Amino acid sequence: MSTNTQDNQRKVTTRRLIEMKQRGEKISMLTAYDYTSAKIVDQAGMDVILVGDSASNVMAGNVTTLPITLDQMIYHAKSVMKAAKRALVVVDLPFGSYQGDSKEALASAIRIMKESHAEAVKMEGGAEIAESVSRVISAGIPVMGHLGLTPQSINKFGTYNVRAREEAEAQKLKEDAKLLEELGCFAIVIEKVPAKLAAEVAASVNIPIIGIGAGGGVDGQVLVMHDMLGLNQGFSPRFLRRYANLGEIMDEALKQYIADVKSSDFPSEAESY
Ligand code: KIV
Repeated sequence: MSTNTQDNQRKVTTRRLIEMKQRGEKISMLTAYDYTSAKIVDQAGMDVILVGDSASNVMAGNVTTLPITLDQMIYHAKSVMKAAKRALVVVDLPFGSYQGDSKEALASAIRIMKESHAEAVKMEGGAEIAESVSRVISAGIPVMGHLGLTPQSINKFGTYNVRAREEAEAQKLKEDAKLLEELGCFAIVIEKVPAKLAAEVAASVNIPIIGIGAGGGVDGQVLVMHDMLGLNQGFSPRFLRRYANLGEIMDEALKQYIADVKSSDFPSEAESY
C-alpha cells in the first residue's frame, strides 16, 4: 500500500484538518443525516461529515432550521456515527440549545457527544457566543464556528442574501474569525459572503476556513447533500454546483415501478418463490 493510500484511509481528526490547511490540501465536507447516505459519503472519501441542522429543511420539510430539536439532532447524529469510519463527524448545536448561556451550551454539547459519540459540534455566531464557545472547548469538546450567513438568525437578517458586503459587517466578521481562533475553535464555516473577504479571513487565521458560497480562496468547501445531488430541486442559488440529478433518476424509477405493478409485469416468475 503506498503512503498516499494509507494517508487517505487514516481517520480524519481536528488536528489533521489543521495540517491539511498547512499543506494547502483542500478540505471536503458534506452534510449527511442518516446511516445509509453517511456510509456512501464516508466511503467516497469525504473528509468531514456535517450532521447539519439543515436536516430541519431537507429531512423534516421545515422552512427554516429553527424548529429542529436537540433530541432530533442526536437521533440523526447517532445514525451517521454508525456509518462514518474515516470522516470527522461534526454536529450542529440546534437553535435554542446554546444561546441562553454557557451552561446551557455545555449541557447541550455534552448530550451530543455522550449520546451520539460524535467528534465535534458546530455553533453559529462570533463575539455574542464567545463565553459559550470557550466553555464547551474547556470541557474538551472541539468546536467548529459558523460566520457570515447564519441560518439560525434568519428572522433577524430577514433574507438569505449575501452577507458582509458592507464594511462594518465585513470588519466584524474578520474580528469574529480571529476571536474564534483565539478561543480554540478548530475550523470555521463561512457562509455566503464575498469571495475576496472570505479569502482574506482564510489568510488571516491558522485554522481552516470552510466556505459555502464564499468562493475558492478558502481552505475547503461544504454543501448540503440533498442540494448537490439534485434531490432538493427547488433550491438553486448561484454557489450550488449540482453533481447529479437524483430527483429525476428517482422519479423515472418510481414511475417505472408503478407502471410495472399496474401492468403485472412485476414481479416476474424469476422474482417469485
Ligand atoms: O446545517 C447545515 O447544513 C450547515 C451548512 C450549510 C454549512 O450549517
